[in-house]
Amino acid sequence: MSMMFNQRVYLNNAATSFPKAPGVAEAVAGYITDIGSNIHRGQYKEALAAEETVLETRELLCALFHAPKPENVVFHKNITESLNLLILGIFKPGDHVLISSMEHNAIIRPLNHFTRNNPGFSYSVLPCTADGSLSLDGKLPLQEAVDQFMLKFLRPNTKAVMITHASNVCGTIFPLKEIGAFCQRHHLLFIVDSAQTAGHLEIDMQETGIHALGFTGHKGLLGPQGIGGIVLADQIIPLFQPVIVGGSGSHSENPYQPNDMPDKYEAGTPNLPGIYGLHASLNYIRTTGLQTIRDKEMKLTSKLIDNLQNAKGLKLIGSPDLDQRTAVLSFDFIGKDNALISYKLEKDYGLINRCGLHCSPLAHQTLGTFPRGAVRLSLSCFNTLEEIDYASKAILSVCRSS
Ligand SMILES: Cc1ncc(COP(=O)(O)O)c(C=O)c1O
Repeated sequence: MSMMFNQRVYLNNAATSFPKAPGVAEAVAGYITDIGSNIHRGQYKEALAAEETVLETRELLCALFHAPKPENVVFHKNITESLNLLILGIFKPGDHVLISSMEHNAIIRPLNHFTRNNPGFSYSVLPCTADGSLSLDGKLPLQEAVDQFMLKFLRPNTKAVMITHASNVCGTIFPLKEIGAFCQRHHLLFIVDSAQTAGHLEIDMQETGIHALGFTGHKGLLGPQGIGGIVLADQIIPLFQPVIVGGSGSHSENPYQPNDMPDKYEAGTPNLPGIYGLHASLNYIRTTGLQTIRDKEMKLTSKLIDNLQNAKGLKLIGSPDLDQRTAVLSFDFIGKDNALISYKLEKDYGLINRCGLHCSPLAHQTLGTFPRGAVRLSLSCFNTLEEIDYASKAILSVCRSS
């Protein structure tokens, strides 16, 4: 191994971002060392300071996602928990749901679990092409193509569409605005998984007609693990029963969960160190600007694609079109063992990547990489062009030598 390959480059940001935004570590530590208070459970100075930071964090999320109001921002530990609670709290036997064939297990497993326990409930999978996009008629204008396509799967009892904004395997972006318009026309709930796009792409809940937007704090939002949640439109709140109930620090005389927002869905003490960290990362995103982050990520993605486009035996999965994708790239090393390549990239070149099925077996079936999996490199705005060149050289070297 040449001495040239002696760096460590983190390209596993779709799993969890690293490094976190500047100020996150200090904010988490500052809460623990200087504040330490719960919220809604005391009226002293530190408790009020914590209340204020939690409210500001809701306001930052509300502004980021163009949500109706900060009290509709609900904190949970991650998007998986939020998606489970939405499924358990909204759907009933007899309901039908549409998802795509690019969903993460955070949607597929809770739906399968719910189906098993609720005979009569069902879901259908909207098929996608080998580049991870909906199987639309490309000759039609986008809205017409989406309408025509989705109509084929609509049933009289269809209640909701649950869909990821972008694939965690190949980065393909779904047309949320057009899907939202279809949902509105057919009176369907529109539930979106923003795990791979929050903090990377503009999301406008109101313009897109999203009723529930799940988010997770530790990926593109650049915050710590253990904090995530959902942002709700007003219309979905009466249809969504709380699943976890208990102390909220409010209306303690009431033996039932209060209907006030966000207390209806936030029983028990929240992850306050996590919220402090997220507060700092959201401030970083706000001051940097989403477009600046997106431009940087796409510049790096474009460089990586250019560097590797002529590599023999290497196939980029998904679309090379930058407008259609995020900075999550998976590669198939044709005729080679992708798991072994992934291992070598880390061990010999220090390239931190992720191999396997990425919790998305259906997506890999769609992309033609099941069961062998693919090597995923996922970039962040903190990567540099030098790191991308280094990573490209490492991949080309592995292609030649394996
Ligand atoms: C598309 C998608 N949805 C949901 C999740 C689950 O996120 P979390 O583990 O933070 O709940 C992930 C994580 O990889 C993801 O990529």
